[in-house]
Amino acid sequence: MAKTEQKRQWQVLIASSHPLFAEGIRGLLNTRQQADVEVVGVVSTIDEALDALNLLKPDMVIVDYDDDRVNREEFLARFVESEGRLRVILLSLKEGGQEAIVYDRRTMAASQIDVWLDNWTETDESLADQGNARGDGEENNQKPKRRDGMRHFIAAALVVIVLTALGLFALEKVDLLPSQSSLQALPIDNLFSLQLKIIAFLFALIVGLMIYSIIVFRRKKGDDTDAAHIEGNTRLEVFWTLVPLVTVLYLSYIGAQALGAVGREDPFPLQVNVIGSQWSWRFEYPEYDIISTDLMLPVNKQALLRLSSTDVIHSFWVPEFRVKQDVLPSGEKFVRELNITPSELGTYKVRCAEMCGSLHYDMRAPVVVMTQDAFDTWVEVESGGVSGDPAERGKTLAEQFGCTACHSADGTPGVGPTWTGLFGSQESLEDGGSVLVDHAFLYESILEPGAKITDGFQNIMPPNIGADLSDEQINDIIAYIESLQ
Ligand code: CUA
Repeated sequence: MAKTEQKRQWQVLIASSHPLFAEGIRGLLNTRQQADVEVVGVVSTIDEALDALNLLKPDMVIVDYDDDRVNREEFLARFVESEGRLRVILLSLKEGGQEAIVYDRRTMAASQIDVWLDNWTETDESLADQGNARGDGEENNQKPKRRDGMRHFIAAALVVIVLTALGLFALEKVDLLPSQSSLQALPIDNLFSLQLKIIAFLFALIVGLMIYSIIVFRRKKGDDTDAAHIEGNTRLEVFWTLVPLVTVLYLSYIGAQALGAVGREDPFPLQVNVIGSQWSWRFEYPEYDIISTDLMLPVNKQALLRLSSTDVIHSFWVPEFRVKQDVLPSGEKFVRELNITPSELGTYKVRCAEMCGSLHYDMRAPVVVMTQDAFDTWVEVESGGVSGDPAERGKTLAEQFGCTACHSADGTPGVGPTWTGLFGSQESLEDGGSVLVDHAFLYESILEPGAKITDGFQNIMPPNIGADLSDEQINDIIAYIESLQ
């Protein structure tokens, strides 16, 4: 037989109850390059050997010649003379693995290990008939492996396809998002839905292949060999670099498109100034000279929100409109704009989406999307008569400017002192003194909250709230406080 360039890979099963024997064989094989040999398992009884034969499909069995517990006659009888013919080598290790004597069943001639290994490939011929009988002669060796790989590939691909389909079906059935109530929600939801589909596929790909490998390639009984060492695969690496790169570039392209669509401005939007304070919202309509605690919006007309904060960073968020914007303090320079075109009539809620202190969770305000007619009526009513009663006006102001978020009007304890029975009372101060709550004290406290602090409270009132109020408005609020006896 002509020697081929490619070495045949030998899968060797060792029969020995001495762990050192297997170690010695491994040592011998590893230091010599003549043959490509892999120890696939170690057994000590004929039953284990039969199990291993089915699972590991070794090419040959090396039997420890010096191990009394291994019945070598039985090994020879079972593997050399029966149907499942295999090469069986009886081997004796001497000098702690430095020297080996081989008792070849067919020649029964003892020789040194080097000679044996040198001759390893030459003895192939004598095995050829046996090899063909087992269906893996040298020529056909690669084909079954490739066919095996293709079978695994198809099976794993099926698992991934089924998992992906299940994921897409679940996404179709589950309502992940709240109602879609603004024009700006459309491009955002389209992005969401595409990305969720991609994620469903990636999840199926990773988890599917993982589950398939865990089950199909799990360790077989009696196999204590190491897994195959794989160096790398350039084609695969190029593939899994290019595909995500192109995907991410495409996502950023459609992301930029969506950003453009969300930011598109109508020529004549409704102007609304949105002011966030700890812990309330105020909505000013400069065109109509209206201040409101509720955000009233006509349907299908774009509103241009100009957002600012009187104290810390808040975040304006109406989930049904999808868009979200941080609300920053520090004046005109940091005013942020947001376009919203409500597309569904209904009542929603602004939530603060930025942790802003102890009542952050409660920093909410109603949002009402109404018909243009209803909106016009609301404007008429709001900008119509202002009450002639200062206390009545003060009550409205206290709500509009968010005072009531911290100061209750019914005696409930809050972040700030309740206003019920406050006017005319004697309050002890943090510094030990006390003060009569009169007009002068309240006026000072609104303009300069930190001047005198009531015992048991912290000064977390917005310091510039007084600057936003006119003298008349402050007097109205004090009149309201005075009325709460
Ligand atoms: Cu304002 Cu959270």
